[in-house]
Amino acid sequence: MKNSIATIILEQETIPKVALDFMNNTHFEELKIVKEIAELINTLKIDNNKIHIQKSLSETLNAWLKHTVEHFKHENELMKETDFPAYSIHKKEHEIALERMKKVINKWIEDQDINLIHDYIFSFWPMWFTQHINTMDMMTAKFAVSHGYKNH
Ligand SMILES: [Fe+2]
Ligand SMILES: [Fe+2]
Repeated sequence: MKNSIATIILEQETIPKVALDFMNNTHFEELKIVKEIAELINTLKIDNNKIHIQKSLSETLNAWLKHTVEHFKHENELMKETDFPAYSIHKKEHEIALERMKKVINKWIEDQDINLIHDYIFSFWPMWFTQHINTMDMMTAKFAVSHGYKNH
């Protein structure tokens, strides 16, 4: 069990930006949700009112999952609409990421073990998020804009 307070080092100003604002805005929203989750995890380590915090964490994780489903759906639609050549690769990354997220959240809801969710939020996800935006999202947005898709 990790007792020290961890922080998400990503900030809205420093995450990679892509050529489409609607995608950037979705990423900013997601970062906000993940920071709330990170705070709840840290609070859980020191707060005695555990059940209340556990409930908030479960709710926020579910909100994050819903947000992510929509996030990926919109990007997949954009790729279809613009005939992005690497559609299947980008879509596959979304599927794998979503499956992993679901697994971690379900495990938390099942046994309320903070360790797995802690590692996912503070280690795995920040790396995944940055890497995915830097590669797949970056290429997708650039391709869409250069093929006449309007930034909105
Ligand atoms: Fe994205
Ligand atoms: Fe993506």
